[in-house]
Amino acid sequence: MVKAGAEDMIKDENRDPILLAITGASGSIYSFKFIEILRDLGQEVHLIVSSTGEQVSKIEIKEDGFQALIRMAHTVYSPDNLAAAPASGSSRWKAMVILPCTMGTMASIAHGFSQNLIHRAADCFLKERRPLILVPRETPLNRIHLQNMLLAEKAGAVIYPAMPSFYHQPGNIDEMASFFAGRLAEFMGLRVDGLKRWHGID
Ligand SMILES: Cc1cc2nc3c(=O)[nH]c(=O)nc-3n(C[C@H](O)[C@H](O)[C@H](O)COP(=O)(O)O)c2cc1C
Repeated sequence: MVKAGAEDMIKDENRDPILLAITGASGSIYSFKFIEILRDLGQEVHLIVSSTGEQVSKIEIKEDGFQALIRMAHTVYSPDNLAAAPASGSSRWKAMVILPCTMGTMASIAHGFSQNLIHRAADCFLKERRPLILVPRETPLNRIHLQNMLLAEKAGAVIYPAMPSFYHQPGNIDEMASFFAGRLAEFMGLRVDGLKRWHGID
């Protein structure tokens, strides 16, 4: 038997799709950049967009941007279809990312209240102990938001707030969002070439 090298193992891992959900918080440019990076890496992405997620995306990245984002997904599920593959713990995924994640979706996940396919899929990821990354965007945060984030984190989710950074000197919003999305992809174990890295100050 020939043992797979590390590179082959990564390729194998990459065959499992990433489940991306977009909910109705501000920040759909992050999901656009994220899916673009994954597409360029050859990583299959399956997508669920909540109805408010679609509404807010169309405000922020316009109809054309939203349609381009949808086209980058391998499969798109309706958030109302609770019989779709992500509703079952038996389907295979590399990870699930909710980008951006509203406080409403955060609350549903934290309390196991599966009202749509996004909540149900997240519930499955938690019960199956699979990587679930929630990217909230809200400010200021009330105590309910904070408690729900802690509950979700205690149940196994990673809270990865949509907080852009400035130390890499982004020249525009595009660069700011790309850097955030690239860091998120690397957090998930993917290698993103061309990402500006900090090399320290002598
Ligand atoms: C333009 C717009 C921007 C919004 N921004 C946020 C936000 O940044 N964070 C948030 O938690 N909710 C935000 N909301 C509210 C959510 O969209 C709303 O709570 C919705 O019910 C969430 O549903 P969903 O989680 O199924 O997408 C926004 C709504 C609109 C219309």
